[in-house]
Amino acid sequence: KKVAYIASECVPFIKTGGLADVVGTLPKIFDRNEYDVRVIMPNYLCIPNKYREKMQYLTHFYMDIGYKNDYVGVMYLEYEGVKVYFIDNEYYFNGFTPYGDVKWDIEKFSFFSKAALCILPAVGFQPDILHCHDWQAGLVPVYLKTLFAGNPFFSGMKSVMTIHNLQFQGKWDIDTLKADSGLPDYVFTPDKLEVRKDASMLKGGLVYADKITTVSNTYAREIQTPYYGEGLDGLLSARWQSLWGIVNGIDYDVWNPATDSQVYKNYSVDNFRELKKINKVELQKECGLPQDDKQFVIGIISRLTDQKGLDLVDRIMNDICCDGVQFIVLGTGDSRYEDMFRYYQGIHPAKVSANIYYSDERSHKMYAGCDVMLVPSRFEPCGLTQLMALRYGTVPIVRETGGLKDTVEPYNQFENTGTGFSFANYNAYELLDAINYAKEVYYNNKDAWYGIQERGMRMDYSWYNSAKIYNDLYNSL
Ligand code: ADP
Ligand code: GLC
Repeated sequence: KKVAYIASECVPFIKTGGLADVVGTLPKIFDRNEYDVRVIMPNYLCIPNKYREKMQYLTHFYMDIGYKNDYVGVMYLEYEGVKVYFIDNEYYFNGFTPYGDVKWDIEKFSFFSKAALCILPAVGFQPDILHCHDWQAGLVPVYLKTLFAGNPFFSGMKSVMTIHNLQFQGKWDIDTLKADSGLPDYVFTPDKLEVRKDASMLKGGLVYADKITTVSNTYAREIQTPYYGEGLDGLLSARWQSLWGIVNGIDYDVWNPATDSQVYKNYSVDNFRELKKINKVELQKECGLPQDDKQFVIGIISRLTDQKGLDLVDRIMNDICCDGVQFIVLGTGDSRYEDMFRYYQGIHPAKVSANIYYSDERSHKMYAGCDVMLVPSRFEPCGLTQLMALRYGTVPIVRETGGLKDTVEPYNQFENTGTGFSFANYNAYELLDAINYAKEVYYNNKDAWYGIQERGMRMDYSWYNSAKIYNDLYNSL
């Protein structure tokens, strides 16, 4: 089977969130004898030069889109066995980050979605399945079933639309999207792209794709309700039979405390009791906190946005910063939250370390060095941080929503089961209770604590189980 992954991000080339991890890892997992999975993504100028200089120019042509005629170049790189096509156009992809102003992004990714189809005949790749990720690729199924419908090269191609985050839809007024995309008038109706007088690129994908997936079972159920549905719950419940929830995995080669070259001291499930704390002390040093392996070190690694439950953390920060606790945050995002963590570092300098930047290396050191990882999200389609934490014996404290609910089993002191701590309602004091409970077990019941860590480390959230379900999905088309 031939499958094209169409997405705006892919590790190691460009990453702003979990989408990139998924697109960069999943294609590697499929059996090479059965599958030819290739990736199509933009050739951003902000992709590091060490990759850009290895890319090979394949071809270029001009493509009509709306009133314009745009240059489409195709660059190519084979990375760890996966063939990647980079759509080249400096006018669109010259920013310092992949995204910017929403209106501009909509024009940019309309171009990207159409170009992703147009390059296929040009590079001689005829996939059976177009697997489209998030709103940036939302128009691909729409083009496929409208403007490309009569073209024999594309006939018989199926499409899958995967929702990594329903909140972002690529929504703008109808006239603008019509002009940017060149799509026919009849798709801009309420049963297709229209949402309350605007047009949504993701909705287009959800209407026109043959199958829809999202990244956990619980999120698949949640998005059929108004609270999580972002205005599309009606459509998603109408299509429930085509909607699959498939939980994400992580790359177990990259995220492995036993071999990770970015951590101070490697360790495994057999010796984490003695060795993990060495990572803690080094982390404290690097973060400017007093070095003491007894401290209960809480970590957050996150985009700093409303999705991630940081207003709850704000409410209880002064309660958290009590004796025996340290708090390390790594993240960037809304200035409101960036400043909030800087402020708490200012008033609790010996307890709080605010690292307001993006650093893959620091994230590895935190997964290895922290005792617990907080993920109190308002909603969370899957969440990868808790999976990385589990792998490193760092106990997740999560809100019971989306993939967090599906992947972290709450500790049960009577049965000695569970891999983390959780709370149900979006309420700061429930979060505080969960943190205090974890802290109590950490300080007063070491054996139970080790048990939680060990069970977490023994969970298997590599991609293999989920890849089997994607295999079933592809076969069902
Ligand atoms: P989302 O995609 O909503 O941001 P996920 O939990 O799926 O959430 O994925 C987040 C990924 O980004 C994780 O791999 C996490 O380690 C990483 N990450 C987030 N912020 C940072 C940061 N400031 N530095 C390094 N890695 C980060
Ligand atoms: C999104 C979601 C996150 C998920 C990731 C990868 O960014 O916010 O929960 O893990 O996509 O699917």
